[in-house]
Amino acid sequence: MSMKSLRVLVLICSTRPNALGPAVGAWLTSTLTPSARALGVELAPVALGDLQLPFLDEEEHPARGVYQHEHTRQWSEAVAAADGFIVVTPEYNYGMPATLKNALDYLGGEWAWKPVGFVSYGNTSAGTRAVQHAKQTTSTLRLVSLGSTVALRIADAQQQGGFRPADHHARAAVDMLEELARVGHALAPLRAHDQATPGPLPGSYVKRLHLDDGPHVTVLQRCCWVDEAIANNTLELPALHETPAQVRQWLADWHATGLWHAGRLLGMVRTVRHGSALRIGRLAVTPDLRGRGLGRWLLRIAETRSQGCDHILLTTGADSSRNLAFYRKQGYAPLPATNNGEISLRKDLAS
Ligand SMILES: Cc1cc2nc3c(=O)[nH]c(=O)nc-3n(C[C@H](O)[C@H](O)[C@H](O)COP(=O)(O)O)c2cc1C
Repeated sequence: MSMKSLRVLVLICSTRPNALGPAVGAWLTSTLTPSARALGVELAPVALGDLQLPFLDEEEHPARGVYQHEHTRQWSEAVAAADGFIVVTPEYNYGMPATLKNALDYLGGEWAWKPVGFVSYGNTSAGTRAVQHAKQTTSTLRLVSLGSTVALRIADAQQQGGFRPADHHARAAVDMLEELARVGHALAPLRAHDQATPGPLPGSYVKRLHLDDGPHVTVLQRCCWVDEAIANNTLELPALHETPAQVRQWLADWHATGLWHAGRLLGMVRTVRHGSALRIGRLAVTPDLRGRGLGRWLLRIAETRSQGCDHILLTTGADSSRNLAFYRKQGYAPLPATNNGEISLRKDLAS
């Protein structure tokens, strides 16, 4: 739902002087630039030769992510920040070039659940054996191979001294990018899951909500605040009306935590500090999962952000009897005054 842009590294694998690889990479990026813009894809060309990666020289297995060398840390950061890859590879002796194998072997989890497309080139095989060879390694790393490929026979693409693949290759490249964007978005929940803390339901995970999560938050709020509207006999509740853009604004100011499952936002809570008070708000659990302790669990998560505070404040509708009973049970005491149909509750923290 949130159409976050995708960062795609275009890996140019050959490193020989006067190699054809850079020309293939330049053709590819110029061919794909208009479609990339339309699809919200940022193409970032990376020449593997520029990474200055020696043959793998890390002591620990890459799965541990413990890197001693600066070149590995930089490569790790670049791959971790990417959402997908296009590998521009020659075929050397019926296989992938050693540069590609080495660059893949350096890292572990950074590759996982990201789409990879191949643009190969060579003689009669058009580099396809290099692609088959590379897939054996990329699938082990949980990179997800695209069905679309671009396979260029060098003799066909080299015309009048320049490198000009035929129009059908350009169309194949655009098809591949479209597939990459679809798969990249579809795999986003798996990537988020791997990077997040496990939640209380099997397969669920917790992560801080970011600006791009605005549409998910908007949907959750509108579902959850219907009961609040009925209980308090009013539609004048910001959570019912806020647009994704308005949600984005408060996501920038609050620390909000989301509970997710397979890309679906199941629940959330937000906190902000005001002096010695921690303010908690927008505690919500999707209606179909109420009664499973998820609200209590999210409230505990929010309360862990109270270090250095001497009390916690939250508000709910003055007639939200279910919420009031819930918060009382969690140690919150209602304050006497109501404001605009809302009641504040306070919990003092032991110093
Ligand atoms: C070490 C080496 C091995 C090669 N093996 C193959 C091969 O197995 N299949 C093929 O189609 N071309 C092969 N070639 C020819 C390459 O396709 C051609 O030289 C291409 O330009 C190599 O890409 P590069 O210029 O980006 O390094 C080989 C070239 C080199 C240098």
